This record gives sequence, C-alpha cells and structure tokens, in this order.
Amino acid sequence: MMLPLAFLAFASTLVHASGLYYLSDYHVGYEFYNTFEFQAIPDPTHGRVNYVNESYAISKNLSYASWDTFIMRADHTTVLNASDAGRDSVRIQSYKSYTTHVIIFDIRHMPQGCATWPAAWETGSNWPYDGEVDIVEGVNDVSPNQMTLHTAPGCTMPAGNRTETGIIETTDCDAYDNSNAGCGVAAPTANSYGPAFNADGGGWYAMERTNSSIKVWFWARNDRSVPVDVSLPIASPLVDTNLWGTPTAYFPNNTDCDLASHFNENKIIINLTLCGDWAGNVFNLDGCPGDCVSYVDENPADFIEAYWDLASVRVYE
Ligand SMILES: *[C@@H]1O[C@H](CO)[C@@H](O)[C@H](O)[C@H]1NC(C)=O
Ligand SMILES: *[C@@H]1O[C@H](CO)[C@@H](O)[C@H](O)[C@H]1NC(C)=O
Ligand SMILES: *[C@@H]1O[C@H](CO)[C@@H](O)[C@H](O)[C@H]1NC(C)=O
Ligand SMILES: *[C@@H]1O[C@H](CO)[C@@H](O)[C@H](O)[C@H]1NC(C)=O
Ligand SMILES: *[C@@H]1O[C@H](CO)[C@@H](O)[C@H](O)[C@H]1NC(C)=O
Ligand SMILES: *[C@@H]1O[C@H](CO)[C@@H](O)[C@H](O)[C@H]1NC(C)=O
Ligand SMILES: *[C@@H]1O[C@H](CO)[C@@H](O)[C@H](O)[C@H]1NC(C)=O
Repeated sequence: MMLPLAFLAFASTLVHASGLYYLSDYHVGYEFYNTFEFQAIPDPTHGRVNYVNESYAISKNLSYASWDTFIMRADHTTVLNASDAGRDSVRIQSYKSYTTHVIIFDIRHMPQGCATWPAAWETGSNWPYDGEVDIVEGVNDVSPNQMTLHTAPGCTMPAGNRTETGIIETTDCDAYDNSNAGCGVAAPTANSYGPAFNADGGGWYAMERTNSSIKVWFWARNDRSVPVDVSLPIASPLVDTNLWGTPTAYFPNNTDCDLASHFNENKIIINLTLCGDWAGNVFNLDGCPGDCVSYVDENPADFIEAYWDLASVRVYE
C-alpha cells in the first residue's frame, strides 16, 4: 500500500511542477445552488448589510440563475430605517475545500457603486491560521483591484524582485499587524476593478496555489493575451499555468514565509458588503457623499449596479 500512495504523491508533485491541473469542479448557472451555501450571518466587518438565506434571496430575486448565469446582488428597492439590520445582500461559501489548486472566475459584472465592498476570496475555518487569499477586492468603485494575503504571524513577502505585473503595496501578511492590512499587490490596469471592469464586459481572474507560490492573473474580456484554456466558453478539461505568462500578483514561498504552514484547506467565498471597516472608513476620501450608513439606507436606486454576474467558477486540481 505504501508504494502506490507514495507514487501518487510523487506523480501529483510532478504534474503541478509542470503547471498542469485537471478540472475538478465546474460551478455554472443553477449549479451554484448545489455547491455553495448562502450564509445568513452577521457581517464580521461591521457592514450595513443583512445577509439573507438562499430561499429568501431567490424569492426577492437577490439571487437568480439560468443555465449559464449566476447572479447575486444587494437589494435596490427598499428605503431602510436606522433600526433595520442593513440592506439585504448575499454571501456564498463553497461546501468544498481546496489546498493545491487553480481557480478561474469568469466574471461578467462585479458590484459597483459608492459603499460597495465586494470580494471573491478563499479562507479556512480557523482564521487567520488557515490563511486567506483575496483575489478580487476593493471598495467604493476605486480601481485598481487589490490581491492580498492574510495569515498568522510569521509571513512576510519580499519587497521587490517579484515576477509580477502588479505593484507591491504592503509586505507583512500577518493579520495581527497593521490593522489586518495584509500583504497586498495592486493590479496595474484600471479595468481590473469596478466600473471600468464592467464597461469592458468583465474578464477572468485566476489564482494558483501551491506550497511554492500563490499567483493571481487578471485578463480583461477584450485582452487578446488571455490563454485559450482560460477563455474557452466550455470549461477546458485541463489548464497549464506555465503557459499563462507573468502573473498580476506573485507571492513566493520564501525564508520569511513558509506557505505550507500558513495555508490550510480553504473554501471559496463570494460576498458583497456595504460600508463596514474598509468601505465605510474611506467613504468620503473615495469621493462618496455624506455618511455611508445613511447613504445606504436612503438611496436604494444607487444599488442597481451592486451585483455579481458570474459566467462560471472553475476549480482545477
Ligand atoms: C467580505 O470579504 C472580505 C474579503 O477580504 C472580508 O474581509 C470580509 O470579512 C467579508 N465580509 C463578509 C461579511 O463576509
Ligand atoms: C430565510 O429567511 C427568511 C427571512 O428572514 C425567513 O423568514 C425564513 O424562515 C428563512 N428560511 C430558512 C430556511 O432559514
Ligand atoms: C431577476 O433578476 C434577473 C437577473 O438580473 C432578471 O433578468 C430578471 O428579470 C429578474 N426577475 C424579476 C422578476 O425581476
Ligand atoms: C420604517 O419605519 C416606518 C415608520 O415606522 C415604517 O412605516 C416603514 O415600513 C419602515 N420601513 C422599513 C423598511 O422597515
Ligand atoms: C533585489 O535583488 C537584488 C539582487 O539580488 C538585491 O540587491 C536587492 O536588495 C533586492 N531588492 C529587494 C527589494 O529585495
Ligand atoms: C518554503 O520556504 C520554507 C522557508 O520559509 C522552506 O523551509 C520550505 O522548504 C519552502 N517550501 C517549498 C515548497 O519550497
Ligand atoms: C504541501 O505541504 C503540505 C504540508 O507540508 C503537505 O501536506 C502537502 O502534501 C504539500 N502539497 C504538495 C502538493 O506537495
């Protein structure tokens, strides 16, 4: 029994070293209702949101699916009172967990508008010890996208010499330092986030996680350099990340961060909060008017664009 297992582990190491991964989960359309849990939980980041459950979200059309589309959004019709819990919104988490893998988000539209704080990310049940990888994240329509790791103490990324097209913003990944700023890289293009992303018809975000590195790539919908195994409308049965070119963000395993001990099994989370610890604190700095909570309460029509439209989420292992 020892031999085949050791061989399998060896073969799997070889496959990933070569950049080859095989399709294991293809989340598309109605399938999201089977593979993701709607989490009606209080927002840990103190946002002006009321996360709703699956049946309620569907009944209010805050979530909608067809064979090739999955939509989740914030309510855009209700004027709220101060005593209300917050604007209805949706947070979903995959039932399945992943370690070494590649994930590809094919996104047609991301939430936009003042107060919005959308995120597509991964984390585990024991935060921050299981690690957190933020793949798509930002607030108040401010571009570009930020890709960030948050970890337990003892993980720092090099301040330079990283093979990536993005711009290093912070290097200490420790969630207990710098008010949990994490180690972040900003994408180099404006169409990586918010209104400019949506104006281009969205695009693809991909992340590869191994014990050697965590890489994130972004291609806008009209980017001719998008690899065919990413852009095929029918899910490619395998992908080869070695052919994807320089990543947008590159977080290497290094002497100041052993990735294998800082990252455990992670689930996929897609959420949309409003205001809260980040979007609320920089609301005026980002050019949004007045007080964030009152803005959310009083202006439902400003949340018409506050939705995710996902063509698919694919995972390769
Ligand atoms: C939404 O996602 C961001 C991702 O970084 C996370 O910090 C925040 O806690 C999330 N909020 C909720 C309520 O899930
Ligand atoms: C879903 O949420 C609605 C509104 O809060 C509630 O009435 C309903 O009982 C919930 N359903 C489930 C299955 O929890
Ligand atoms: C529900 O939302 C979908 C997607 O935004 C939209 O196409 C559809 O018209 C909506 N249905 C209703 C009844 O509003
Ligand atoms: C807000 O309060 C008013 C007056 O108490 C009430 O008529 C209205 O239904 C409330 N709105 C919501 C969204 O609860
Ligand atoms: C980049 O590498 C060069 C050569 O090894 C080294 O001198 C320099 O300090 C490095 N810069 C950073 C920011 O790590
Ligand atoms: C990652 O770096 C640590 C040092 O921080 C090292 O001990 C470990 O062998 C490296 N892992 C890989 C997969 O290279
Ligand atoms: C990554 O490291 C963990 C912890 O050392 C180990 O259990 C796992 O097998 C490694 N994964 C791969 C693909 O080598």
